[in-house]
Amino acid sequence: MTYLLRLDCSPRNSDSVSRELADNAEKRLLTLIPSLSTKTRDLATENLPHITNDTIAGFYAPPSGKTEKLKAATALSDELIQELKMADTLLISAPMYNFGVPSSLKAWIDQIVRINKTFAFDGSQFEGLVAVKRSVLVLSYGAQGYAQGGDLSEMDFLEPYLRALMSFLGIEKTHVIRIEGTTGDPDALETAKRQALVDISQLVVEES
Ligand SMILES: Cc1cc2nc3c(=O)[nH]c(=O)nc-3n(C[C@H](O)[C@H](O)[C@H](O)COP(=O)(O)O)c2cc1C
Repeated sequence: MTYLLRLDCSPRNSDSVSRELADNAEKRLLTLIPSLSTKTRDLATENLPHITNDTIAGFYAPPSGKTEKLKAATALSDELIQELKMADTLLISAPMYNFGVPSSLKAWIDQIVRINKTFAFDGSQFEGLVAVKRSVLVLSYGAQGYAQGGDLSEMDFLEPYLRALMSFLGIEKTHVIRIEGTTGDPDALETAKRQALVDISQLVVEES
């Protein structure tokens, strides 16, 4: 049975804008694809370990060189990759932290980006091996001006990074819902939230 894999990474709970919008995006996706159920990972509380010397050795070891120690070091990566590859749709909610992704999400990324499992390299070209049909990124930014042409657009290492990563993994379709100015004036935040909810309500996914 396939599913919607949802990853949240804001350490905030009830006040989290990215989680609130992701709740709405999840509902919208389940309405559009009623056969799906959701599998959620809360990366903010799971504290996935950073990859280690043994994890990297395990990633690159040939099957014959996979000692028990290396197998143990890559067991979590195996599990996370299988969970990702079995998903129909990937929903990631993330706040911008210091212009990029929170480290809890980066820890997940470092576990799942893996040669011959989620990407291949033939000496000249990369090929993504993840056949997830689509990803939806729900991104919240404290300041304003990150959108294209904005004063801070060159500092946006969140959306371009995640978009590039999705494409690198082989996920061909990525939808992005973004909200800016979450730490500013409360009225402006409410207006921005309303717009993001409209964007979510207009989300359309193609069956492929
Ligand atoms: C540690 C930390 C770093 C942040 N870095 C940035 C940043 O670089 N740029 C920005 O616009 N907002 C930044 N913010 C603000 C958050 O992106 C913003 O409050 C976001 O809405 C938080 O998402 P959440 O409400 O889901 O927790 C930062 C907030 C924290 C706590």
